[in-house]
Amino acid sequence: MHILEIIAKKRDHQVLTKAEIEYFIDNYTKGLIPDYQASALLMAIYINGMNDEETINLALSMRDSGDVLDLSDVPGIKVDKHSTGGVGDKVSLVLGPILAYSGLVVAKMSGRGLGHTGGTIDKLEAIPGFRTSLSVDEFKQQLTSIGLAIIGQTGHIAPADKKIYALRDVSETVSNRSLIASSIMSKKLASGADCICLDVKVGSGAFMKNVSEATKLAKLMIRIGQSQGKNIKAILTDMDEPLGLAIGNSLEVIEAIATLKGQGPEDLVHVCAVIGAQLLLASQLEVSFNVAYNKLRQIMDSGVALDKLSQMIKAQGGDPEIISHPQVLLKGVLKEEVFAQSSGYIKKTDALSLGNAAKYLGAGRETIGDKILLDVGIVLNKKVGDQVKQGDSLAVIYHHNKGLLEAKAIVQSAIIVGNKPPKQKLIKKVI
Ligand code: URA
Repeated sequence: MHILEIIAKKRDHQVLTKAEIEYFIDNYTKGLIPDYQASALLMAIYINGMNDEETINLALSMRDSGDVLDLSDVPGIKVDKHSTGGVGDKVSLVLGPILAYSGLVVAKMSGRGLGHTGGTIDKLEAIPGFRTSLSVDEFKQQLTSIGLAIIGQTGHIAPADKKIYALRDVSETVSNRSLIASSIMSKKLASGADCICLDVKVGSGAFMKNVSEATKLAKLMIRIGQSQGKNIKAILTDMDEPLGLAIGNSLEVIEAIATLKGQGPEDLVHVCAVIGAQLLLASQLEVSFNVAYNKLRQIMDSGVALDKLSQMIKAQGGDPEIISHPQVLLKGVLKEEVFAQSSGYIKKTDALSLGNAAKYLGAGRETIGDKILLDVGIVLNKKVGDQVKQGDSLAVIYHHNKGLLEAKAIVQSAIIVGNKPPKQKLIKKVI
C-alpha cells in the first residue's frame, strides 16, 4: 500500500477500504506521511466525499490512533457535549460547570478554533496558566474530585484528530460532513463518556448551511455513536447569528463567567439549558424536560455553579481570580466602536462575516502554529430583532491594530438594519 495510491483513488471518486483508511491514519499520526500528502488526501475527500462506511472507518481509526479511555472507575454518570462549530459559541464553558453542579461528571474533549469558528481550547487558554493537555491519570483524578475536566486532543488521546484538525484549519477542508463527523466522534469515543449531546449548528456561521445538511450530519454522528453503545442525541441550533454577544477568546470567557453569574444573554442561556436538560434526561437524573430545563436556568441565575468553574480552573493550573476580575483578560487591548447608519430593527448579524472579522483581528490561524491574539474580537451591542436609532452603537471591536480596517468594514456590513423585526427559531430540531 502507498499513500499516493490512496490519494489517487479518492481523487478519482473511488471508495477507500478500511485497510487504506487505517494505513493513512496510522502513518500520518506517526509522522511517516508528510502534511502536503495528507492535505491532498483531505482535499480529495472534501471534494469527492466519503460514504457512511468510509466515514465510520475513519472515525474509528482516528479514535484508535491513541488511548481509548475507560472511565468505569470514575464514580458517577459521565457526560459530554460537542458543537459542530459556531461563532460566539461558548456553551461548553457554561454547560460544564452547571452540569457538574447538578451531579453529572463532565468528561469533555474539545478542539481549537477551526476556520472562522472559535474553539473551547483556545478560549480556555485565554485564562492565564490554564493547561488543556492532561495525562489520563490527571483527567480521571479531576473527574473524580470535582466532576469536571475539559481537555484538548493530546499525543495520547485522539492524536490523529489533533494533527488532522490543525491541517484542516489552514487548508480550507473543514466543512465536509465526513471530516466533521469523524473528527468529532473520534474525540467523543476516545474520551469515554456514556451520554453525549451534539449541538449541530445550522446557518451562515455554521459549516452546515441548512437544516437538511445538518440533519444528515447529526444522523451520521448518532449512527457512529450508537454503533459503539453510546447514549447520544443531537440538537440543531441556529447559527445565522452569533450566540450571545461576545466573539473572541477572552471576550467569550468573560461572557461565560457573566452567564454563570446570572447575567447571560437570553439566547446563550436558552441553548445551555436545552442541551443540559437533554443530558440530565439521558442520564436519568431527571425525568421531565421542563423540570430539568428550569433547574439549569435557576443554577445559572443564582450563580451557584461558579465554584465548579473556579475548581476546574484551579485544578488545570489556571488563575481562578479571573472569575472575580474577568476584565484583567482585556488589559492593553484597544477598542473601536461601530455605529448604526440608519434607524429600524436589526434584521441580520451575519455570523460568518463576524467570525471572519475576528480572524482578521488575529483571533484565528492562517498557518499551523500561528500564535493567535487571545484578547481581540467583537462584542455586539444589538441582537437580531432589537430596535436601533441612527448613531446607536452596534458593536465594539477589541483589537491590536492588526486587521482593524478590514474587520471594521466587515462588521459594519454584517449588521443589517431593516424596517421590521424578523422571526427567528433558535432550536430547530431535536434528533
Ligand atoms: N468540531 C470538531 O471537533 N471537529 C470538526 O470538524 C468540527 C467541529
